[in-house]
Amino acid sequence: MSAFFWIKSIHVGSVGLSIAGFIARGVLMLRGSALLEARFVRVAPHVVDTALLASAVWLAWFLHQYPFVDGWITAKVLGLLAYIALGMIALRRGRSLRVRAVAFAAALATVAYVVTVALTHDPRGPLALLGGA
Ligand code: HEM
Repeated sequence: MSAFFWIKSIHVGSVGLSIAGFIARGVLMLRGSALLEARFVRVAPHVVDTALLASAVWLAWFLHQYPFVDGWITAKVLGLLAYIALGMIALRRGRSLRVRAVAFAAALATVAYVVTVALTHDPRGPLALLGGA
């Protein structure tokens, strides 16, 4: 198996863990659970997101596809930044439950968009998936 295969597996695996962990923390937030403050719940996402980002940078470097040069990578980087910002509002900074819930839904929509960009290599994401070439 090639290095590309392994690093891509780490990338896709950490994407899955990141989304699953975010949904789990979102549910804790909506329920007002004190578990959200548990050490593991606070630290694990940093480990997962570091693996996600490091593997992303390696894959982009390997494929010679760069942000602000190739549209789909640019869309992924901007989408990742939006996912992080909305996630911070959803889990920490949002002033009311309503604001946090809306930010949570928007973060999930954003990461779903990024997954479709990843699968299609096209910044149009879901629209490209519908086949409008
Ligand atoms: C929330 C953020 C991200 C998600 C959900 C995500 C998701 C994915 C998925 C599902 C794949 C596999 C696609 C396939 O099998 O065809 C993939 C591959 C890839 N991702 Fe990401 N990714 C994210 C962030 C990034 C970022 C920020 C970069 C670049 C800096 C990046 C670069 C790549 C590259 C180069 C590949 C390999 C594409 C190929 O096999 O041709 N990803 N990503």
